[in-house]
Amino acid sequence: MTTAATTATGLRVHPLTPKLGARIDGVDFAEDIGDDVFAAIYAAYLRYQVLLFPPQDVPPARQVALARRFGEVQVHVMNQYHADGFPELYRLSNLDATGQPNGRHPDKGTLEWHTDGSWQRVTGHATIIYGEIVPETGGETHFADMYGAYARLSDAWKARIAGLRAVHNLDFSRTRRHGEEPMTEAQRRAKPPVDHPIVRTHPETGRKCLYLGDHAESIVGLPYDEGRAMIEELNRLAIHPDLTYEHRWTPGELMVWDNRCTMHRATGYDPATQRRVVRRCTVLGEVPA
Ligand SMILES: [Fe+2]
Repeated sequence: MTTAATTATGLRVHPLTPKLGARIDGVDFAEDIGDDVFAAIYAAYLRYQVLLFPPQDVPPARQVALARRFGEVQVHVMNQYHADGFPELYRLSNLDATGQPNGRHPDKGTLEWHTDGSWQRVTGHATIIYGEIVPETGGETHFADMYGAYARLSDAWKARIAGLRAVHNLDFSRTRRHGEEPMTEAQRRAKPPVDHPIVRTHPETGRKCLYLGDHAESIVGLPYDEGRAMIEELNRLAIHPDLTYEHRWTPGELMVWDNRCTMHRATGYDPATQRRVVRRCTVLGEVPA
């Protein structure tokens, strides 16, 4: 299952599971990444959907530079998280000013299966996360393959959802998970709900995938409760052990994943005793079709 393939650029690609994820050895982020190396990384990204790079120092500027190779980098509406002088970087940390755990989970929304940026008209492409400090227990990231999720659906489900669109709403998911820290009025106005097809076609691979997750609130043309029930059921059906990869972090690892054809979630950790600091960039993709 984990046969390594070596690319023409000397990168070694080790699949992490039979379907999803690969570890990429041989990339040094201290160096400028050449076009040929990036092309090999990008080919692995389209093939494996989730990439893991082994521990190394990746300064913030290098992380942003890598993200820019994928496309336009999002500046997040939740501007309290901007980090390191780069508005493109979003830092999730549970540390206080003295570096001690403050007891608060910085983004409980990440604990539910979702895909980044589905609440925008132009949705997320690559997310690039660097683990500066990771908990000794908990704080894993789980990934699920949405090509496989669509393929596993019964013909009846496929017929039922063909042509349906879901409304994705950050205010809905944020309020549900973070009632104590809702969006501001200005943030709400900046990001109104948007609708996307439930089955989207990946713009580069041409393959169909299920596109829902925790930001999906309702279904266009269905009564609210009926749409809610359908979304909950499809989100549940989407997750299957054969289609997931569960990553336990080592400090200094960098991960990249394709939000167009995966979902992910973080697992909990004790924010009062464990330290977790990760920085994230999300690259903007396209309007789903
Ligand atoms: Fe996320």
